[in-house]
Amino acid sequence: MPIPKRLNSPFAAARAPLADKIDWARERLIVALDVPNAAASSELVKKLEGACRWFKVGLELFTAAGPAAVEPLVAAGHSVFLDLKFHDIPNTVAGAVRSAASWGVKMVNVHAAGGPAMLAAAKSALDGVRNPPQLLAVTVLTSLDAVALKATGVNRSPARQVTVLGRMCLKAGVRGFVCSPEEVAALRRLTGPDGILVVPGIRPAGSETNDQKRSATPSEALRNGASFLVVGRPITQAPKPAQAAEMVLEEMARAL
Ligand code: C5P
Repeated sequence: MPIPKRLNSPFAAARAPLADKIDWARERLIVALDVPNAAASSELVKKLEGACRWFKVGLELFTAAGPAAVEPLVAAGHSVFLDLKFHDIPNTVAGAVRSAASWGVKMVNVHAAGGPAMLAAAKSALDGVRNPPQLLAVTVLTSLDAVALKATGVNRSPARQVTVLGRMCLKAGVRGFVCSPEEVAALRRLTGPDGILVVPGIRPAGSETNDQKRSATPSEALRNGASFLVVGRPITQAPKPAQAAEMVLEEMARAL
């Protein structure tokens, strides 16, 4: 298991000095590298290297650059979340998860909506892999509100749908999730302290929500039980990304 359990007990660090808490927050902040190519990624990473340890490679960058987007990050000792949200038949997803694991990333994800057999196949694909990445299931995209969810044929509220999918994932042996800040407390209740909850849709107080419909501040998300926070544009599009990251880290540290 690549992710230390202590990351899930925020209050263990509550009495530590602020500098230690910030360092501890660094292990829980994942910066989304949503940029169009490998050159833009390395330019951004260079700016953030001192401040951030985790980077997320998503669909935009991976589709443009492939594994070349991941390799330099892993080689430099960064932790990588490969956010490709696999959603296909079980055999195909198992193969994709196996390939992703071979690049040394620390997190990979699949859509929970792929169903129990797909989840089980993704999980089995990591059996026997040395230092396997944490498998995460995406519940309901943070950009979907109740109206948009209904348009896809799901008549439940996002909160209810997350719980239904969460139960299904746990039954299939998947204990890691990507979820919105609004559902993190409910998922934490479902998973208990061992669940790994990765939460995008984070907006520091006063910043733009962009297309995120269900967002929260770093402190709210942590207090509700998030293990990791994913932040993209509020850091990557800031005039000084490292400074913006340090502000998020400080807000996280103060929430402990
Ligand atoms: O720029 P922003 O902070 O909104 O970026 C959020 C990141 O988290 C994006 O890379 C997006 O793909 C990802 N994400 C999300 N909702 C999910 C899963 C991942 O916003 N449910």
